Amino acid sequence: MINGSKRLSGDVEVQGAKNSALPIIAAAVLTKGENVFHNCPSLSDVDVALRIIRSLGGKARFSGGALLINCDDIHNDSVPDALTREMRGSVVFLGALLARMGRVVLGLPGGCELGARPIDLHLRALRLMGAEISERGGVLECTADGGLFGADIALSFPSVGATENIILSAVTADGTTTITNAAREPEICDLCDYLNSAGAKIYGAGEGTVVIDGVKSLSAVSHTIIPDRIVAATLMSAAAATGSRITLKGIIPSHLGAVTPVFEEMGCIADCRGTEMRFCAPERLRHTEVVRTMPYPGFPTDAQAPLTAAAAVAKGTSVFVENIFESRYKHIGEMIRLGADIKIQDRVAVINGVKRLYGARVRACDLRGAAALVTAALAAEGESEISGVRYLERGYEDFELTLSSLGADIKKL
Ligand code: UD1
Repeated sequence: MINGSKRLSGDVEVQGAKNSALPIIAAAVLTKGENVFHNCPSLSDVDVALRIIRSLGGKARFSGGALLINCDDIHNDSVPDALTREMRGSVVFLGALLARMGRVVLGLPGGCELGARPIDLHLRALRLMGAEISERGGVLECTADGGLFGADIALSFPSVGATENIILSAVTADGTTTITNAAREPEICDLCDYLNSAGAKIYGAGEGTVVIDGVKSLSAVSHTIIPDRIVAATLMSAAAATGSRITLKGIIPSHLGAVTPVFEEMGCIADCRGTEMRFCAPERLRHTEVVRTMPYPGFPTDAQAPLTAAAAVAKGTSVFVENIFESRYKHIGEMIRLGADIKIQDRVAVINGVKRLYGARVRACDLRGAAALVTAALAAEGESEISGVRYLERGYEDFELTLSSLGADIKKL
C-alpha cells in the first residue's frame, strides 16, 4: 500500500547486486574451503541459489551479515526441477556443475515473464568445450566424460548468462578458452574478480574479448559483492518521479554511466563524489529524447521499467526502445491504470508525460515492472495497492523499509 505524492529525502545505502551474487554463488561450487561473501543481498532469488547449493550437498548460511558457502561435500549433480523453475538465473549452475562434476542434470528454465528466453548460446558454447547435451521431457543432461577443454567461442550476441556459463566451465578446463563478443556487464567483472582471487586465470573481463587459461583447482576466498546499479537506478527514478533530493551511498557511479545522463537530460542533478551520489530532481521533470536499451555499457534493460515511471510524469513526450527482451512492457498497462498516457508498438513505448498520476489497484507481473509500479505509485496522488510483491522481493531487499526511511508512506501487508 502506497500513499503517494510525498517527497523523499535522506541517505540510502545501496544493496549488493543480485546479478553478481547469483553467478558468484554458482561459482563457489568450483572452490575448496569456505567462502565468505560480504554485501550479498538477502533476496528470494539468492535464497533459491542457496537452496540449490544445499541440495547439491554444499553448505550455505548467513552469519553476522556475511554469507558463508562451503562446497567441499558436493556430491549431487542434479538441480531439483522445482528450483530451476523458481528462478531462471539458476541456469548458471549448468557451467559450474559441469566443470565440477563432469555431469549435470538441470530442468530447462523455460519461458519467463520477459518472453521466450532461449539458452542456445550457452549450449552451443558448452558443446564446443566438449560437453554432450541431450534434452528429454524439459530436462537437460550434460556430460563431459573426457573433461572440458578450452575452445574459441564467438557469441552472436553478448549474452550475460552465456558469458558467465562459459567462464564457469572454462576456469578449470584443460587449455585456453577465448570468448569473443563477450558480455561486458560489471557483474561479469565481479564474477571474474572473485574467480581470479580464488586462483583462476581470466584476462579481459569487461572487454569484448575474454581469455581464460584453465587451472587445476580454485580455493575459497573472501569477496565483497559490488553494489546493485539497477537498485540505484530505481531509487534515482523514485526520487526523479517525486521531485526529491536523496543521497545514494556505497555505489560505483561509473556503472551508471548510461543511466545518469538520461536523468540529467530530464533536469536532475547528480553530483558524484567517490562512492556517493547526491541526486536532486526538479519540481517537474523534462521529457527524455529516445532511450534505447543495449548491452552494457549501453542503457540497461533492467532500468527501463523504473525510468518509464519517471517519464510518465515528465513534461513532454519520451520514447523508449526495448532492444534486449521482447516482452518487457507488461507494467505499462498497469501504469495506464494509474493515469499514465503511454502507447506501445512492438518494442517502442511512447510516453506522453501527464501532470499527475492517481492511486489505483495494480498488479506486478515481473521484477522490474514491480519496481516501476512502486515508483509510479510513489508519484501518484492518493492510495495505490500493488499486488505481486513477490516479484519485487526477488531483487529488492526490504524495499518498503528503504523507501519509508526516505519518507515514503508505504507498507507491506
Ligand atoms: C541477465 C540478467 C537480467 C538482465 C539481462 C540483460 C541475471 C540473473 N539476469 O539475464 O537481469 O536483464 O542479463 O542485461 O544476471 N539470448 C538468446 N540465446 C541465449 C541467451 C540469450 O537468444 O542463449 C537472448 C535473450 O533471449 C535476450 C538477450 O539474448 O533477448 C539477452 O539475454 P542475456 O544477456 O542472456 O540475459 P540473461 O543472462 O538471461
